[in-house]
This record gives sequence, structure tokens and C-alpha cells, in this order.
Amino acid sequence: MFPDDHPGSRALFERALKVMPGGNSRHTVYFPPYPVYAAKGEGARVTDVDGVSRLDFINNYSSLIHGHCHPEVTAAITRQAATLQAVSLPTEAEIELAELLCARLPSVEQIRFANSGTEGVMMAIKAARGFTGRRLIAKVEGAYHGSDDTAAVSTYPHPSKWSDPDEGRGVSEPGSGPGAAADVIILQMNDVEGGRRLIKRHGAELAAVLVDPLVKNLGYRPASPAFLEMLREETRAAGALLIFDEVYSLRLGYGGAQEVLGVRADLTALGKIIGGGLPVGAVGGSAEIMTAVFDPRGGKAKVSHGGTYNANPLTMAAGAVSMRLFDRAAFDRLSGLGDRLRKGLAEAASAAGATARVTGAASIVGLFHMSGSGETFRDMAKARMENPEAGRKAEHFFRHMLDNGVLMGAPGFFVLSTALTEADIDHVINEAHVAFSTLRKAAA
Ligand SMILES: Cc1ncc(COP(=O)(O)O)c(C=O)c1O
Repeated sequence: MFPDDHPGSRALFERALKVMPGGNSRHTVYFPPYPVYAAKGEGARVTDVDGVSRLDFINNYSSLIHGHCHPEVTAAITRQAATLQAVSLPTEAEIELAELLCARLPSVEQIRFANSGTEGVMMAIKAARGFTGRRLIAKVEGAYHGSDDTAAVSTYPHPSKWSDPDEGRGVSEPGSGPGAAADVIILQMNDVEGGRRLIKRHGAELAAVLVDPLVKNLGYRPASPAFLEMLREETRAAGALLIFDEVYSLRLGYGGAQEVLGVRADLTALGKIIGGGLPVGAVGGSAEIMTAVFDPRGGKAKVSHGGTYNANPLTMAAGAVSMRLFDRAAFDRLSGLGDRLRKGLAEAASAAGATARVTGAASIVGLFHMSGSGETFRDMAKARMENPEAGRKAEHFFRHMLDNGVLMGAPGFFVLSTALTEADIDHVINEAHVAFSTLRKAAA
């Protein structure tokens, strides 16, 4: 049982605390009293330093589409590492990954690489501002788009700072420049008419609307087709750009969420799975916009885009192999595993008479210990306040899984990899039956 039989993790955490605040470089990896430290990854499994092996259902917050150390990805990295690791010259490896992604994403005719999703989003925002000569960005309240000051506005706004949604006023995140919020208009997820009013009102100053069609912080419920259609229509009418953040949602379709939803964005931010597990980010879009903004021939590009590690050959090589392996057949199989898990979790909840909602799409699965909680960040926050036991149940569920060979996202999510099998999915479902029934017994 965790944490009792994990002395190795405890010792590492105590050592880490001396040299890193909170013991880490990434707040999402912490859980009390200390996180489990990983030693080895192999396919669908990760083994911790105390020798406990678990099925990995986080997959590095989505980046490991083929699980750990896929032999072909490892071979590509090893080959590239022995040939050329970093260089201040372009390489064929980046053309190859660019060609693969442009062929796959209909709205992406040209692309530029960076090293994180944060940078991909940031470059998309800069490109939109450079292209339109305008300042304002509109985004959805509660949507996480990485750590850039503009993109981070109103990601987790405290209720005391909520203003009238019709004003669309944002809140700078702690640590961001206080001016960031003045550059951002805040929309409420799936509020079609409210969003339309705000975009019309600020249209002349609006550079872009930034949207993630499946926001994790909003419980993995998808943006409605009507909301996305409104964004497409109104940005076009205003002469602003539509940016899709597909850092996460690329998992929703072979050609990303845009293919499934039938929306064509002007710019798309990418990251995670396109790097084959190595650090990556990218911005892509129409040749007209990308060339106008980033093409340095004939003087200086409108928006400068450097980066010591941009399009580094190791990431490019891993990304190309990984995306090639993630073909339509692999995509369909993985989505089938996602469907199996969603169905099994819903049945487990229902068998125990539990109040729970299973959400997500394709290889992303959300599990929330509440019934309907509305569409927006505010609806979700209110539902959490009204259901304090939901957090306790999520904690119980996470601990149960951790003690029974499954590493899931603590707030209640599962991100799948192609390394998983139906038997792995069924293991989680069986454990979900046990976890729900323990919760029921505890409540009685
Ligand atoms: C939708 C979305 N955008 C951007 C990011 C930032 O990506 P990165 O962590 O690679 O900076 C994330 C990361 O989780 C994300 O989920």
C-alpha cells in the first residue's frame, strides 16, 4: 500500500526537497505525502524505484501516444543520437515531420517547430498579432493553454474575481504581468450568444480567438459545434484569426479535432504526441499567414522566431516515427480502447449506484464523481463547492488505483497509449467496480 511500502520514493523526495522547491520542477507530478518516483518505463507499464509496476494511464499528460520506449521510437532516437544531436543548421529530419503533419492536418499547410506546447500557443498568438496588427486575444475561461502570460489569463480565476461574463474581463494569473489581462477577452464555454456579442463588440481590435475543443479543466466535455461555428463565423467577419490549441486534442482524430469537428482553423498550436515523447511544440497554419508572418527572406520576418532547440533532430526523428506509427488503424484501435474504458467505468458506477459522470473522447477519458455540472468554468467551480465529497471520492479512487497497479490522473482522468491491451482496460474496469463499491460501503 502507498505510501507505506515506498521507502525509495520517500528518500528521494526528502533529498529533492533540499534542492528543489516542493521537490520538483513540475507541480502536476506531486501528490501527498510524496509522489511515487519512476525508475523504468516499458510499453504500457512504469515501474517505480521501489519495484512496483503499474499500468500508465497518464502517459506523460498525453505525449506518450505509444507508451514507454516503443522499440521503433527508441531505435530512431538512438540512430539520430549517434548521427547528429544538435546543430545550428536546418536538417532533413524537420522537413520530414513537417511533411507528415501538413499531410495529416488539412488546415496546416506550413509549420514551425518549438519545444513545448506553451511555445506553440505563444507563437500562434504572436503570429495572429503580427498578421492582423491587432492586440486582443479572446479565450475561454478556465481553459489551460500553457504558461505564456496572455494564454494563461483566467485559467484558474478565483470566484472573488469573477466579473459579469458579459464584460468578458479576464484575470492575470499570479506571476504574470498585470497587463496581461488587459489584452484578453474572456468567453464562457459554449455560450454562443454571449461569445458572439463579445467578439462583435471587440472585433476591430481582435487579433484572434484561441480555443481548445476539449478542455481538461472543464471536465473533458467538448466545445459544442454551435459554439465553434459561431467562433469561425465571427472571427471571419471581424477579420480576426481562429486559433485551435490542438496540443492535447490532436488525439481526438487522425487529423486532430478539426477533422472530426469539420472546422478549419487559421492557426493551430501543436505539441505532446507530435514529438514522439521528446519535448516539442509547433505552430501551423495556412501558407498565406505563416509566410506573411515568419518568412525571413527579403529582410526580417514580421515576427521573429528563434530558439536554440527548435526542430532539434532528436525530437524530429522520434516525432516522425511516432506519427507514422499512429496511422488510421492505430487511431481507431486506440479510440476503441477509450470507448471500452468509458463504457466499463459508467457500468461500474451504475452497478454501485454511484453518482458519477464519464466524459472524454477517443483516447482521453474523464471520470467525475458528480452528476451534471454545467458547461462553464463557473458551473464546474460551483458544482465542486456544492459537492465537497466529490474531491474525497476522486482521492479514494486515485489511491485505490495506485495500490492496484494503475497510475491514473489524480483529479479523475485516463490518457491511453497504443501499448495498452483490452485486458489492461478490463483490469481498470474491475478495479473501478471495487473502488465504487468500497465508496458505497463507506457511505453506508
Ligand atoms: C491544451 C494545452 N495547451 C498547451 C499546453 C502546454 O503544453 P506544454 O506543457 O508542452 O508546454 C498543454 C499542456 O498540458 C495543454 O493541455
